[in-house]
Amino acid sequence: MIRVISKKEFRQKLGIDLGTELARHAPVESVKELYGAPFSYIHRLEKYKSQKSAAQYLADHEDRWVLLSLLLFARPERILEMGTERGKMTALLALLSAPQARVWTVDLPPRETHGIQYAWEADYPKGEHINLFGAGHKVTQVFCDSRKISAQNLPPMDFCFIDGNHDYDFVRADSEYALAQLRKPAVLVWHDYKSEEPGVRRYLHELSQHMPLYRVAGSWMMWMVFALVGYEHLNLRRQWLYWPR
Ligand SMILES: C[S@@+](CC[C@H](N)C(=O)[O-])C[C@H]1O[C@@H](n2cnc3c(N)ncnc32)[C@H](O)[C@@H]1O
Repeated sequence: MIRVISKKEFRQKLGIDLGTELARHAPVESVKELYGAPFSYIHRLEKYKSQKSAAQYLADHEDRWVLLSLLLFARPERILEMGTERGKMTALLALLSAPQARVWTVDLPPRETHGIQYAWEADYPKGEHINLFGAGHKVTQVFCDSRKISAQNLPPMDFCFIDGNHDYDFVRADSEYALAQLRKPAVLVWHDYKSEEPGVRRYLHELSQHMPLYRVAGSWMMWMVFALVGYEHLNLRRQWLYWPR
């Protein structure tokens, strides 16, 4: 069973104010560029005109809020993202991680997507936004089918965001790789735990029989599921093993 916790408890346990962190690091022009049309509409509204409120707009998106709050909480040095797409999330992972952190982001090589369900035929360069906040130097793009990722000899990871192919076999393969590859304490986050993605749901329900998984209660936009591995050895606020009580 996946444990559901409230937004309030998530916020209290982590002690992270994502809006403030984003306002400090993300220039409003980059935010606008990254989130294009919806942002330009919202930006016309008076309350979204300042740097702080623009950053708050980014932070308010529920899935992004969960993922990036966990990132700020864990302060990982090695981050793995399965599924780069345009690199919007990669840009944020790079921006908000420690200066010495490194991000590896995996997607299929161009023109090798045929026959793979969920492989997005892109008319844009994969990872085109990675350097949007000027932190692209922290990112290594890995072009391969994630099922063959072991051949890349990547180092052990502290933080894995699994958002590649949502078909059951792929989610399982990506997750098993991440679980074998992590160094403790580590955070694993999966995207798209929703009814339209039965492969993700089925795999995460199975995995939750073997390890605690969490989801933050919220609106229909709350699709992140996460696991904290090895946090029982840390103290105080990081005693996630006993959380939620
Ligand atoms: C949901 S998108 C990733 C979105 C991105 N993480 C973000 O938050 O902006 C999924 C990506 O996974 C890639 N993908 C699909 N199958 C894959 C595979 N077998 N190996 C690597 N990447 C794959 C797709 O090409 C697509 O770009």
